[in-house]
Amino acid sequence: MVEVPEHLLQRSRDRRKDLGATTGDEPAAEVPPSETAAAPAVAQTQAPAAAAEPSLPELPDLEPDPEPEPQPEPVKPWIQAALTRKKIPVWAVPVLIFLPFWAIIFAGTLESPERDTEIIALGREVYEGSGGCAGCHGAEGGGGVGPALIGGEVMDTFGDWRDHVIWIVNGSPAQPGTLYGDNNKESLGAANGMPAFGEDLSAREILAVTYFERVELGGAAEVDLHDLEELFEAEGVLPNQFDIGQTFPGTLNGLMASAGIGAG
Ligand code: HEC
Repeated sequence: MVEVPEHLLQRSRDRRKDLGATTGDEPAAEVPPSETAAAPAVAQTQAPAAAAEPSLPELPDLEPDPEPEPQPEPVKPWIQAALTRKKIPVWAVPVLIFLPFWAIIFAGTLESPERDTEIIALGREVYEGSGGCAGCHGAEGGGGVGPALIGGEVMDTFGDWRDHVIWIVNGSPAQPGTLYGDNNKESLGAANGMPAFGEDLSAREILAVTYFERVELGGAAEVDLHDLEELFEAEGVLPNQFDIGQTFPGTLNGLMASAGIGAG
């Protein structure tokens, strides 16, 4: 048995202890000097491994690392409430989708068909325009130099819309005191009465202002003016102007017949 110096043994024990090997004295005692001499070399080669070993548990750390990222900063409760709150309640969605359709349907019940709007718009334009009717009959048809048209008065005078048209085209009869209208009113005569509009207004304008005065001022039912409305709409039937002095019931009836409009 070779005598191993005690300090070498101790160094070997220390190395083994470092490497996590058993620190029993007995193997150290049996280690030959050659091995003991190699011990430092082994320690050298294993040292990096030993050094790397502690880093191994760090590897799994790489995965949990990204996790803390999504962890949001503590959000204020009121902000959280604002973010998660539903802006539009579920029940309101079909209501909102249907709303435009409902608006169209509702508007349809308020407004008469489009052609009525057109005829009334043109009629109002004529009535309120310069040199129109409002200057003598009042902006609202309440009367002035000319008689009032509101309150059903114009309907009492001209029960038939065709007589109304004839009146506007021809104006007051020449002679004062001539009776006119269904209620036999005494005319002021051409000099002081109503001017003839046959030359100033187109046939369409006269139909439109007749419609306007009867519906908007006279309170007539639009349905009773269906023929007038159709004649106004008829394409290529109306003359540009109604000639003053014509016998209009006949002329208007002829126009309606050629437009295929039923007698009214
Ligand atoms: C310069 C004034 C004046 C203007 C402008 C005038 N009127 Fe008249 N209008 C009269 C007078 C006056 C009478 C009454 C007729 C008479 O006594 O002969 C009358 C009567 C009428 C009547 C009969 C009403 C009734 O019950 O007696 C109608 C309808 C009418 N006018 C429509 C119109 C229309 C439509 C216009 C525009 C295109 C118009 N007038 C423009 C003065 C006017």
